[in-house]
Amino acid sequence: MLIMSIESTCDETAVAITRNGREVLTDQIFSQADLHAVYGGVVPEIASRSHVEVISQLAQRAVDAAGIKKTDLDALAVSYAPGLIGAVLVGVNFAKSAALALGIPLIPVHHIKGHIAANYIAFPELEPPFLCLAISGGNTMLVDVRGYTDMKILGSTRDDAAGECFDKTARVLGLPYPGGKHVDRLSQSGDDKKYDLPRAHVEGNPYDMSFSGLKTAVVNLVHNAEQKGEELDRESLCASFARAVSESLVPRTMTLAKELGYSRIAVAGGVAANSRIRADFAAAAERAGVELFVPPLSLCGDNGAMIGCQGYYEFLAGTRAGSDLNAYANMEI
Ligand code: KG4
Repeated sequence: MLIMSIESTCDETAVAITRNGREVLTDQIFSQADLHAVYGGVVPEIASRSHVEVISQLAQRAVDAAGIKKTDLDALAVSYAPGLIGAVLVGVNFAKSAALALGIPLIPVHHIKGHIAANYIAFPELEPPFLCLAISGGNTMLVDVRGYTDMKILGSTRDDAAGECFDKTARVLGLPYPGGKHVDRLSQSGDDKKYDLPRAHVEGNPYDMSFSGLKTAVVNLVHNAEQKGEELDRESLCASFARAVSESLVPRTMTLAKELGYSRIAVAGGVAANSRIRADFAAAAERAGVELFVPPLSLCGDNGAMIGCQGYYEFLAGTRAGSDLNAYANMEI
């Protein structure tokens, strides 16, 4: 089954063509990062306009690169929530028109479910159930993946997402947008014990997380140093920060997996590219004797293939949308 899948929830426009879910024929990704860098963050209106400008060309390029004809497509899958509403609407409207014109089914895909499905592409042997930590620019959640389409959130951030916290830290240190990878790079040559940064414990649900206190602590540290004319050790601040984020994520995930009796853990989303988090998970999984699945960097960030893969399983489960499909800024998984 050939699916064309569309992703436009934030600042990447992507169109992929996948066969039977896990085989990627092509994934055409246009990153808008350069357009937003000058503003230090994503400007929603610029994001929407850029999606409009490139989406048709990307779709044509995907068809050409896959060596197929448009009429060979069996279904259209689209990431319809959550995301920047104007940006998501562009992908949804394109997908609706294409599905209607080609007379093929339209499959709505939850963006975070797509991130989780990136693991199926990277690891052909992976099947539910497993526990997944989904960490991206806008979301941080522990998801019980009971089946390909049956998932339950067991913990999530009460405030900022982990990626947002990386980006704010980068910004206050004067690093370019998107900052996560720059904080990661600097952290590799720093002392992770030099700065004492907080790890939040949220009352109520031990699997909920909070990153706003950590973000504020970094901002205060930088501003105080500036006011006193003190030089900060940026590498060590990044290393201490990455350690604090990792220690907020990895032990919680491991404990929850044990509680659920799961021997498989997956990680997904842009922040899964972080070297400290990857290394800490690898060590923790080895200690606990659980299997760990972390996608390659190319499948951590937003891409079209992950939407096609999840779209395939949604299709098998009977999920369909009509031409009244809407885009949503927020949506339960
Ligand atoms: O999944 P993604 O591409 O977009 C969303 O769906 O949100 O994630 C983007 C986030 C950004 O916050 C970016 O700074 C972060 O992932 N990120 C990283 C790294 N690479 C990307 N954060 C930490 N370390 C990295 N190496």
